[in-house]
Amino acid sequence: MDIVVFESLYGNTAAVAAAIAAGLSADARALTTSEATRELIEEARIVVAGAPVHAMSLPTAATRESARAKPQGADHMLADLGHLSMRDWLTALPRGPRLGAAFDTRVRGPLGHGSSRAIAQTLEACGFTLLDAPRGFTVHMHTSSSAPGALLARGQLDLAREWGEHLQERAASLV
Ligand SMILES: Cc1cc2nc3c(=O)[nH]c(=O)nc-3n(C[C@H](O)[C@H](O)[C@H](O)COP(=O)(O)O)c2cc1C
Repeated sequence: MDIVVFESLYGNTAAVAAAIAAGLSADARALTTSEATRELIEEARIVVAGAPVHAMSLPTAATRESARAKPQGADHMLADLGHLSMRDWLTALPRGPRLGAAFDTRVRGPLGHGSSRAIAQTLEACGFTLLDAPRGFTVHMHTSSSAPGALLARGQLDLAREWGEHLQERAASLV
């Protein structure tokens, strides 16, 4: 099975993860950090991991806390802090020769190295072969009284699905 595991406070990284999973394969699953247990990871063939960029890197306890009670995202939701951070999930990642890739969601362009490079470095340190360079997907942050901020930019879900297909092709070429 192929797994796309994500941290997502406002739903955007979750939506990108679902689109990547749809591109990867029919039975690929997009899972929260709580759902992506050690046992599932050990059985997986491809593991793609993604998180939002907070303060130019992976969310920390402090950045997650600062997002609490700030409504954002398509559903104007409060930050969902009910799952492990990607940072904590990565500390328990089982070692082993697996295939993988890393992504993040961010405001625009290359602002530092984002979360995806930090995720990719941990995947490699745990024995993963990376199927592609770390990838960023773009959110807009305009917030007004009538429209919440942190919404995926147009076309990002199509790009995410295509990237999932690309990762699958890369995996097939390695066999
Ligand atoms: C506390 C905080 C810090 C952020 N810092 C950055 C940043 O440094 N660079 C950036 O591109 N986006 C930054 N963002 C915007 C997030 O990347 C955006 O909220 C995220 O991609 C939305 O994903 P989600 O809906 O899955 O939580 C920040 C957001 C929050 C809440």
